[in-house]
Amino acid sequence: MTQPDDSFESVHAARTPGSRKLFERASKVLIGGTTRTSVFHPPYPAYMVRGEGCRTWDVDGNAYVDFLNNYTTLIHGHCFEPVVEALKRQAEAGSCFGAPSEHEIRLAEIICARVTSVRKLRFASSGTEAVMYALRLARAFTGRNLIAKFEGGFHGAYDDCQISYCLSADHVAAAHGPVSVRNSRGLETGVEDRVIMLPFNRLDETVAAIKAHAGQLACVIVEPVIGSGGVIPAERDFLQGLREVTARHGILLIFDEIMTLRLGFGGAQGHYGVEPDLTTFGKIVSGGLPLAAFGGREDVMAPLDPRNGPPPVPQSGTFNGCAAATAAGVACMEALTRERIRELNAMGDALKSRLDEVFRRTGTTAQVTGFGSLLNVHFSAEPATDHRGAVRADRERLERLFQALLLRGYVIAARGMICLSTAMGEDEIDGFVDAVAEAIH
Ligand SMILES: Cc1ncc(COP(=O)(O)O)c(C=O)c1O
Repeated sequence: MTQPDDSFESVHAARTPGSRKLFERASKVLIGGTTRTSVFHPPYPAYMVRGEGCRTWDVDGNAYVDFLNNYTTLIHGHCFEPVVEALKRQAEAGSCFGAPSEHEIRLAEIICARVTSVRKLRFASSGTEAVMYALRLARAFTGRNLIAKFEGGFHGAYDDCQISYCLSADHVAAAHGPVSVRNSRGLETGVEDRVIMLPFNRLDETVAAIKAHAGQLACVIVEPVIGSGGVIPAERDFLQGLREVTARHGILLIFDEIMTLRLGFGGAQGHYGVEPDLTTFGKIVSGGLPLAAFGGREDVMAPLDPRNGPPPVPQSGTFNGCAAATAAGVACMEALTRERIRELNAMGDALKSRLDEVFRRTGTTAQVTGFGSLLNVHFSAEPATDHRGAVRADRERLERLFQALLLRGYVIAARGMICLSTAMGEDEIDGFVDAVAEAIH
């Protein structure tokens, strides 16, 4: 008989027999046993039954402190009371209609009031869709076909965005960059020809590439802080330079704030003081339900307007502005005051300093990127200023950290991303810092 060992796989399997059973059942009907690439990790993920505040519980009764928050979605943690109440009320009143409801107006008012570059808004069901519409509007408005994005910029599953959102160590070693890499099979033929790849935080090269394609570029899309590509903040000068060059050439600047809205009352653009032409939103805007949005300049959004006949850019979407999701979004965003964001970001900045200190004290070659409530650990010495920096770090060590934290009851993203919620306090931060110190031992 084989003895259980102390590998992650064995310990995880011993802690989670109920999850293993569910995964086996799932694998009979869901390909690969899951329905979202990022929630799988070997040998199988734990299945959650409940969340409350900053904690979740799996089917086997294991408790976790949630530093992932559904990949940055749950800014107030799980079962935030105002959201639960709003949802209950709306479930009893009707979850969705083939007609608008007042909640969508209120949520749009909140977003437009905070993110001042957004004069007009529309809702969509997912971030992928919001980005797709933003790109389509840019093409419609400019009459140009090319778009530009950055290496490591993740903007969802639309074909144009599946280029170079993730590089391998081989890609990084092979070329100084930027490189055009298909991150999925099955993309439309020639998609990489209409997507110009740019190097994040390298302004001179970015400006040169934009100028070289200026007459054909509809837009440049950028995350002000690269999210899934490693939580790498843009330098302020870089974003300002990007704003200047795009404006000079009539190219629309799109900020993808699906992940970064949480970083400031007016999003990351408020923090940086740079106004894009269009912005995409998702994650926190719905308090944990499927919802996203896109908006910006009124003249750019105008082709969506149906008031003078069929709009030049029709927008469909059965669940756009879904009453339950927008009601939950209003409850979430109203509770997310300027003060709450300031406190949450201060908690994140303090956590970053404490993790830096742990790494210094233990002689660990590691750094923490990001700021406020969004951070990422990288096991590398050279400062990570772009996605390439994240790729060059020791990924195996990161995986071991993820696994060791999971077994200690702390969930982060396997790629090292750490996301805070307002449901956390000093105890959770202390516990997390101790768990990281033990895990890297
Ligand atoms: C910056 C960014 N843009 C777009 C998306 C896609 O959003 P969704 O998963 O809702 O389609 C994501 C998702 O993680 C994201 O982080």
